[in-house]
Amino acid sequence: MNKIALTGIKPTGTPHIGNYLGMIKPALGLVETYRAFYFIADYHALTTVKDRNRLNQLVYEIAATWLALGLDPDRVVFYRQSDIPEIFELAWILSCFTPKGLLNRAHAYKAVTDANKQAGKNPDSDVNGGLYNYPVLMAADILLFGSHVVPVGLDQKQHVEIARDIAAAINHNNGRTLLEPEPLIREDVMTIPGVDGRKMSKNYDNTIPIFADPGVIKKRVMRIVTDSRRPEDPNDPERCNVFAIYRHFASKSDVERTREKYIKGGLAYSEIKKELLEILQKTFCQANKKYNTLVSDYDRIDRILNRGAEKARSFGIPVLQKVRRNIGIQHTR
Ligand code: TRP
Repeated sequence: MNKIALTGIKPTGTPHIGNYLGMIKPALGLVETYRAFYFIADYHALTTVKDRNRLNQLVYEIAATWLALGLDPDRVVFYRQSDIPEIFELAWILSCFTPKGLLNRAHAYKAVTDANKQAGKNPDSDVNGGLYNYPVLMAADILLFGSHVVPVGLDQKQHVEIARDIAAAINHNNGRTLLEPEPLIREDVMTIPGVDGRKMSKNYDNTIPIFADPGVIKKRVMRIVTDSRRPEDPNDPERCNVFAIYRHFASKSDVERTREKYIKGGLAYSEIKKELLEILQKTFCQANKKYNTLVSDYDRIDRILNRGAEKARSFGIPVLQKVRRNIGIQHTR
């Protein structure tokens, strides 16, 4: 059987075209080579999203987004983290094998404590235990299913390595118990600029959503920051934020045609923005229809996710049983 590729999607923001290029599209491609487990990491989101309506809504938005873009729930084990109680039991066990120092050094936690120190505040100011234990929960997500590879961006590499270290600690202490996973890093990480020219990220509020009212998307595209060059002047496409997005969605021949136009001069930013807008609409037109019917069909999404959770648990329960046995916690389940 194919190796397992598992990854979590944190529902903390409305999916944007940077997510699409950087994560969704490559993940959907992996389905050909791996047995894919993709899940919505709602309990990870809880470390930061404290508005219950927003958290609830985001889960359905993410699920509808992936389904609309082509995730086939018959081929991908697609589920909600919070539907798998075994993850949380395993997380406790793992935490008992996790050196505290390892968590002190984890990026997400360290970034907050460093920033606090910089600001002259108590390092742990505004840090909740969930943020601190985040890597342990993530390790449980990964290890419960015997995942071979974990497709993630570079920012999550350390977390996968922590999962690996924890698995190794248990294997060392208790004999071969858990599979030690490998990160599968997207080397050519597709980062695209947001409308302000910085990396597209929900943290900067500079995203172009995949699915939104056409008016919203139009406004965003028209707002992409450009320089004050006149249209007739020759331009360098490699330095243009619009082109940096356009090139990933337009056909090869269109990209070449446009590149030449930039270099020769005669291309107005308003023109290329309009073209980008049209291409985005075309790219996501079908998916957009699916998304709109799905996103408010909570029952249907719940059914799909519940089915995924059942499937996932059939893989996870035996692994947890083995762990319990090997660490000396007997159970007659
Ligand atoms: N921490 C990941 C992120 O922020 C999401 C995530 C949670 C995850 N559990 C996971 C990714 C397990 C891979 C495997 O993007």
